[in-house]
Amino acid sequence: MIPAIRGTHDILPGDVQKWQHVERVARDLCERYGYVELRTPVIEREELFAKGTGETTDIVQKEMYAFTDKGGERVTLRPEATPSLVRAYVEHGLDQLMPATKLFMMGPMFRYERPQKGRYRQFHQLDVEVFNMGDPAVDAEVIDLAWSLVAALEIADAELVINSVGCAACRPTFQKALLAALGDDLPKLCQDCQRRAKTNPLRIYDCKVEADQPIIDRLPHSVDYLCEACATHFAAVQRQLTDWHIPWRISHRLVRGLDYYTRTTFEILGHALGAQNALLGGGRYDGLVKDLGGPDRTGIGFAAGLERLVLALPETAKIAATPRAFVAAIGEDGRAEALRLLRELRQAGLPAQMEFEARGVRAQLKRADRLAARVTLIVGGDELARGEVTLRDMQTGDQRAVPRAEAIDAARALLARDGAHP
Ligand code: HAM
Repeated sequence: MIPAIRGTHDILPGDVQKWQHVERVARDLCERYGYVELRTPVIEREELFAKGTGETTDIVQKEMYAFTDKGGERVTLRPEATPSLVRAYVEHGLDQLMPATKLFMMGPMFRYERPQKGRYRQFHQLDVEVFNMGDPAVDAEVIDLAWSLVAALEIADAELVINSVGCAACRPTFQKALLAALGDDLPKLCQDCQRRAKTNPLRIYDCKVEADQPIIDRLPHSVDYLCEACATHFAAVQRQLTDWHIPWRISHRLVRGLDYYTRTTFEILGHALGAQNALLGGGRYDGLVKDLGGPDRTGIGFAAGLERLVLALPETAKIAATPRAFVAAIGEDGRAEALRLLRELRQAGLPAQMEFEARGVRAQLKRADRLAARVTLIVGGDELARGEVTLRDMQTGDQRAVPRAEAIDAARALLARDGAHP
């Protein structure tokens, strides 16, 4: 047996229903909020992420599945979707086609991380991005979509944390203050932090090393160094969230591990998840479109880890199973008619199954139960002689005869009773 690659997973029948549920809820919500779907390739030029995600990030430095292809080009499996969507936005001039562009995408991402619960090497994201809308109400709307997604999935114990990391104008002042406050303590921090102090001091807030925490806790907060425009923007985001009764907490440490963020950053934490507790994360990135060779357009978005949403689903999640029909045959004549019925049901758009091996009716009904059939259509010699089919409601056990010509409509009516099927 050749096993799957470490950090990758098959999604097996049984679990797949949970995935379909999460994907369905996500898609419905995105469409309700005015987003359109766009799909990009899984493989991109390596430089897209070096430039977009950032040379100094862990993702680019340590985690990319990058290689030279047979044509000698440096390519990589995408570690995140934001640079890909920005590339597509610029490459296809989407700003001309749809001035306020709201895009969403679902698909696999790849990061060479140390696998643990909630952290994988191939994982899946729902990614949403909004271009050319700089108003703080848009930040709040994007956060609202994220919050509504978690609520619609009935995930309990979720917490929204927000922060503002400022812009190109005010960030240098904050960085200076940060380094000044570190002062003589800098050599006491871990090697990673020493490196961060040189490349991107904000990233020191990402440090998880226990011994560093007392020093990091004393450092200044980005929100105290915002320029007037950024401070006004952040206040407006908070006002809008309050107005919509969306509860949040400011986390001064929420700088996020990617280089492109400006102003608002946010995450939703799922406290039942363990160490990898970020259900989703995102923020504004007003310089990225221009940095990647596009027009000067603002951007904001977030990505949710689908594995983490699936893990956080409550046991009681109401996952709608498609109601299906089962056809049971008695005797050879019944079997020929049952096969006809089976195909008619499917042609009529109804999911239907039957047992192909000759079995007694009781065994067939048992199988129908195992498949969670909503209705079973039974045909045998008696039914054939009367031109009828016996319809069994699998929830109540009630049986009644219906004329053969009405069998499909009668089955449809029963399947539709639970509201799930046409
Ligand atoms: P991120 O924080 O790197 O942001 O990832 C977003 C979410 O993807 C995380 O909160 C987590 O749920 C999930 N995730 C990340 N890495 C893994 C992993 N190794 N295994 C399982 N799940 C994982 C971004 O990717 C940004 N592109 C978000 C964004 C969109 N910002 C603006 N627009």
